[in-house]
Amino acid sequence: MDTQTIVILDFGSQYTQLIARRIREQNVFSVVLPCTAPISEIQALKPLGVILSGGPSSVYDADAPAADPRLLELGVPVLGICYGLHFIVHHLGGKVKSAPRREYGHAEVTILDEANQDGANKDRASEDGVTALFAGLPATLQVWMSHGDEALELPAGFRRTAVTQNALAGIANEERRIWAVQFHPEVHHTPLGPKLIRNFVFNICGAAGDWTPAHFIETTVAGIREKVGKGHVICGLSGGVDSSVAAVLVHKAIGSQLTCIFVNNGVLRKNEFVNVQKNLREKLGLHIVAVDASERFMAKLAGVIDPETKRKRIGAEFIAVFDDEATRIAKETGGVDWLVQGTLYPDVIESSSVKGPSQTIKSHHNVGGLPLGMKLKLIEPLRDLFKDEVRRIGRDLGMPEEILGRQPFPGPGLAVRILGEVTPERVALLQEADEIVVAEIKAAGLYSSIWQSFAVLLPVMSVGVMGDQRTYAYTAAVRAVHSEDGMTADWTPLPYEVLKRISSRIVNEVRGINRVVYDITSKPPGTIEWE
Ligand code: XMP
Repeated sequence: MDTQTIVILDFGSQYTQLIARRIREQNVFSVVLPCTAPISEIQALKPLGVILSGGPSSVYDADAPAADPRLLELGVPVLGICYGLHFIVHHLGGKVKSAPRREYGHAEVTILDEANQDGANKDRASEDGVTALFAGLPATLQVWMSHGDEALELPAGFRRTAVTQNALAGIANEERRIWAVQFHPEVHHTPLGPKLIRNFVFNICGAAGDWTPAHFIETTVAGIREKVGKGHVICGLSGGVDSSVAAVLVHKAIGSQLTCIFVNNGVLRKNEFVNVQKNLREKLGLHIVAVDASERFMAKLAGVIDPETKRKRIGAEFIAVFDDEATRIAKETGGVDWLVQGTLYPDVIESSSVKGPSQTIKSHHNVGGLPLGMKLKLIEPLRDLFKDEVRRIGRDLGMPEEILGRQPFPGPGLAVRILGEVTPERVALLQEADEIVVAEIKAAGLYSSIWQSFAVLLPVMSVGVMGDQRTYAYTAAVRAVHSEDGMTADWTPLPYEVLKRISSRIVNEVRGINRVVYDITSKPPGTIEWE
């Protein structure tokens, strides 16, 4: 079964991923390619339509993004947005006026028909002559307009389809099946944008809207089965959403040819090692090799205080343990050929984007790093999906909400939440405090609306009093943040009642912590994790 695809060419707009999401929300698959993608790569996807995103450049800039203008000749419908409009005008023989700055703002757009090319008549009586992109829309629209460069002269065969009071807002050449708008239909400041996108995707491109979780699962499972054949596959499980859904998908495709490796690195949450096995082995039938390597990890962490050293040691030890297990499994099964990774779409876009890679602030370590000695091929069943789509697929696969609804947890685990040296005693203290934070946030019904909520153990001793006894013990910091993607975050104003319960439970139930503080730092300038 072929998947109907809309290709989005990224000219560097901050909204490009949103375009993809708006289309996928209509059950139509869309991919983002860098605008420099060769024509052959675009054609290979047999796109139903192509969307040219906005972007920060001007078409006359010396370093304007270099897309191949032949994409306008492919014969598939094209929708240009903002810079996409300028690209079309420029490459088909029109003229664009450059402006030194680009600004965004609310605007009211009047939709034109063939008889009303100046927008004077706002009471359009009929739909006749309105371009298909605007079919069924009212005569005026509230939009999020980009003010900057502007089309001065349209290429031959194009007409104006929408204007604001003082600017051009839309053009079309229906015969060539090219449409473009100067505003952003993908952002929520354009309330009727979804209707416009539906017009393009369904009425103009003729999409069927059959890209559902069931369709995704069916095609992915069939693809994995064909790719893997009789080969053997391993998968590193972290207990998080992505690696679990990836494993379940692969398991659905090839059953016992998949072995999952779940490593206890000694810095997991309380009971995590047991619970994850229960959930995935007993409830979902995965074949899991669970390796308790906590002692190996603790030995590597002894005496280490520097955060980056902790991360590097944990990352390296993880690969070593994983490598040992993979080698053992290879001996048992007669060879391992494939490795499953839970890579998600935003990482794929980020690495192929026209924007430069952002600076590494912390070295991130993810479960499933490539074993060093083995030449394994990669299976990345989620590389086309956004996080919420992964959850939808997981639900369709019958996975428990307990796994799907989990907040993210860093690869180096509690080690980056224990400041100073990581010792088994400190891990145990933090596990207790962390469990209380999560339980109370869940009890308050806040867990799923918060990006992350956890405790941090500070090597700060202070004096307290318990009954008649003086105490001298550690401090726990509570952290809760709202975030879209972890790149930026706002600290969450937890209700006082919840903070009160968390604090009193930690101090009363966790022997060794006698003080609780609340972290009210956003990111930037803070980071979410303390190390
Ligand atoms: P920071 O602390 O950089 O964290 O603001 C941003 C998000 O990334 C998570 N995080 C990690 N995830 N391996 C991971 O898989 C890591 O090494 C790692 N370090 C941080 C963090 O929990 C937050 O969601």
